[in-house]
Amino acid sequence: MKAVVFHGVGDIRLDDVREPKILKPTDALVRITASAICGTDLHMVRGTVAGMKPGTILGHEAVGIVEETGKDIRNLRVGDRVVVPSTIACGYCSYCRAGYQSQCDNANPNGSHAGTAFFGGPASSGPFQGLQAEYARIPFAATSLMKLPDAIDDDRAILLSDIFPTAYYGADLAEIKDGDTVVVFGCGPVGQFAIASALLHGAGRVFAVDCVESRLEMARGQGAEVIDFNRDDPVALLQRMTGGIGPDRAIDAVGVDAVAPRSGPAAKEAKEHRAQFRQEMKQVAPKTNPDGELWRPGDAPSQVLDWAVKSLAKAGTLAIIGVYPETGRFFSIGEAMEKNLTIKAGNCPHRAYLPHLIELVASGAIDPAAILTQTEPLVDAIEAYKAFDRRESGWVKVELKPQEAQAGRLAA
Ligand SMILES: NC(=O)c1ccc[n+]([C@@H]2O[C@H](COP(=O)([O-])OP(=O)(O)OC[C@H]3O[C@@H](n4cnc5c(N)ncnc54)[C@H](O)[C@@H]3O)[C@@H](O)[C@H]2O)c1
Ligand SMILES: [Zn+2]
Ligand SMILES: [Zn+2]
Repeated sequence: MKAVVFHGVGDIRLDDVREPKILKPTDALVRITASAICGTDLHMVRGTVAGMKPGTILGHEAVGIVEETGKDIRNLRVGDRVVVPSTIACGYCSYCRAGYQSQCDNANPNGSHAGTAFFGGPASSGPFQGLQAEYARIPFAATSLMKLPDAIDDDRAILLSDIFPTAYYGADLAEIKDGDTVVVFGCGPVGQFAIASALLHGAGRVFAVDCVESRLEMARGQGAEVIDFNRDDPVALLQRMTGGIGPDRAIDAVGVDAVAPRSGPAAKEAKEHRAQFRQEMKQVAPKTNPDGELWRPGDAPSQVLDWAVKSLAKAGTLAIIGVYPETGRFFSIGEAMEKNLTIKAGNCPHRAYLPHLIELVASGAIDPAAILTQTEPLVDAIEAYKAFDRRESGWVKVELKPQEAQAGRLAA
């Protein structure tokens, strides 16, 4: 089958690989009908989330059809249409039972303290073969896969696999209540859903910070008040626009590949931090492999954390859903402490959110398709990765269609 395979930092390829097989009674085999590219994949290809094993299939977002089930799968049938949660979880440990599937005791083969198990990630996350492929083996399928109603087509369902649950979880972590003023850093796919989720949580006002024009426009379209950090200093502007108080809640939807402002009033201060940012880069990305403008890591890992702490109102809440690797040790802890901030962070326990979000999408309360901007055949995945990596205008969320690869193969 065709799959997107990690060969090294800055080196991903579309390869022909062996199809997966059922290995355990709790596995299911899924024929993937839709996958997607995520900002998390970019961290791994850029080298800011290190430790990828060459040969790992990338991707952790999928929708598909159950093709085969292990003998302990009693709730699914061959032919069922399902969404695959990005995180892998046993469904029976105390963490899973409490809705903390991303801290499952049993899913990660590296042990119960090894961190979140997920598809297509570094060695420390399993590793498990990913979902940018034609087929995938899904561990603990009975308590992971969720059947999809016909009302939700693949273009909508694919956004339920990771990014909508993650953003909704971010709004929960941020403790957003009716009327709150919220700032979302990052207007990529996760940031867009964070804006939508903040509004679903009752936010009275949402600010959105980024530097990519088309992404800011999409945020404005959702009703956010947008801030381009290459034009305005986001901390100063947020203070000014909130009567000097600051937002009640902040969501970091950027993560380790944050970039520093290149122009505008915030660029001067960022320049003063250049040496510190360089030091941080050494911690998080010991190996990078940029190719011109491609696969270039962000140059200011702590930038968003710093802006969030500085701009938040006293006693506000910061939710960190942007991904930082274990090696990242930078945070303005003193300033956060002195302001009585609440800080919550983590990988999304996708399965805990899926029943509610499936309901919201099926009922039409929210239409996630508004955030999907590209649908590409899996065979064109590498070009799609490049456009997403370069944040080309209009490229926000990219869906990959494996069947078109199959169709292409048959036709060839
Ligand atoms: N916690 C989880 O479970 C989970 C799940 C999925 C994704 N994520 C993470 O969420 C983050 C966002 O994912 P995505 O797919 O939207 O990625 P993305 O790379 O498409 O988006 C990141 C956005 O941040 C912007 N940005 C860069 N520097 C900035 C700064 N200083 N201030 C404000 N914005 C800045 C970029 O221009 C870009 O638009 C990533 O870190 C990803 O790994 C986390
Ligand atoms: Zn993702
Ligand atoms: Zn578990």
